[in-house]
Amino acid sequence: MKTNKILDFRSDTVTLPTDEMRAAMAVAPVGDDVYKEDPTVNRLQQISAEITGMDAALLVPSGTMGNLASLLAHCQRGQEIIVGRKAHIFLYEAAGAAALGGINIQTIPNQPDGTLKLEDIQAAIRPKDEHQPITRLVALENTHNRCNGISLSPEYTRQVADFVHARNLILHIDGARIFNAAIDLNVSVAQLASPADSVTFCLSKGLSAPVGSVICGSEEFIYKAHRIRKQLGGGMRQAGILAAAGIVALENMVERLEEDHRNARLLALGLAEIPSIAINPAEQHTNMVYFSLIEGSPVSLKVFREQLASAGLLVSGGPDRIRMVTHAWVDQSHVEQAIKIITTLAPH
Ligand SMILES: Cc1ncc(COP(=O)(O)O)c(C=O)c1O
Repeated sequence: MKTNKILDFRSDTVTLPTDEMRAAMAVAPVGDDVYKEDPTVNRLQQISAEITGMDAALLVPSGTMGNLASLLAHCQRGQEIIVGRKAHIFLYEAAGAAALGGINIQTIPNQPDGTLKLEDIQAAIRPKDEHQPITRLVALENTHNRCNGISLSPEYTRQVADFVHARNLILHIDGARIFNAAIDLNVSVAQLASPADSVTFCLSKGLSAPVGSVICGSEEFIYKAHRIRKQLGGGMRQAGILAAAGIVALENMVERLEEDHRNARLLALGLAEIPSIAINPAEQHTNMVYFSLIEGSPVSLKVFREQLASAGLLVSGGPDRIRMVTHAWVDQSHVEQAIKIITTLAPH
């Protein structure tokens, strides 16, 4: 089903469900999931809990809702969470935790490797003082999207979990792409997730399912999150149709992420050959490639992106960087075509 017409490297969210997913969706046994009676959703949740090494899991419509429901389940109004300045939760989730949960978001620097320094977390923790918010939770992101898709190691995650727990705080992981991290580091998802109190992961990014994310944690946490999902309007009925695709994603689409990582490396190396492209291939990780034009370039990135789009190559990014993401719907030949288009259109 791959097409040569448009090369879509904007995100791994553009992946379409595979034929196998569509077949599984067609025959999935379903029930009313708000009553917890959908056998396929229940199976997906059980598999998800096992994979992450958590007690329980809950299917939610999106990664954003997964993070939001997790934060609302953990925090009260007037409490505060600590996240990296480049965290998706802070930058791209429409301040849901603040708007809907009265949760203050304090940011601290992300190191280039996506980590938060323990001393920065320590300095951000509020003293017991009635003038100040109450620190409640720290969130990590793995892989870290804005930090070039880098993976956080199990050792680092454990270190932060121990640090946070010793201070009676909670650790949440935005693991939208935690499967990419596990494949990248050759470790299990449970090693990356289980030190935390909760994790969100996405089925509809590199794993190619059409819709859905899963949150995992303790039975008590998932019980609260279930009610919050209802409050947020995320209680779905015969959601087994979606869960069926999610199960195929978990069973068949994880190992192949290695191919996306290989393609991203090829892409980064190819771009590094182009004189007017600014990129350090060693700083690109998993399935993400970020680059810009060298200083003094006669075209802006916005115009360059438009030129690429006119040539059939879709990329994403902001004013200072272009992002290309590899995924199941772009193969090595697409990467080669993309490099050719960029080579032709890059300013000389
Ligand atoms: C790191 C990270 N977390 C959370 C999300 C949110 O996922 P969704 O788009 O399903 O709401 C994304 C989406 O790209 C993401 O990159």
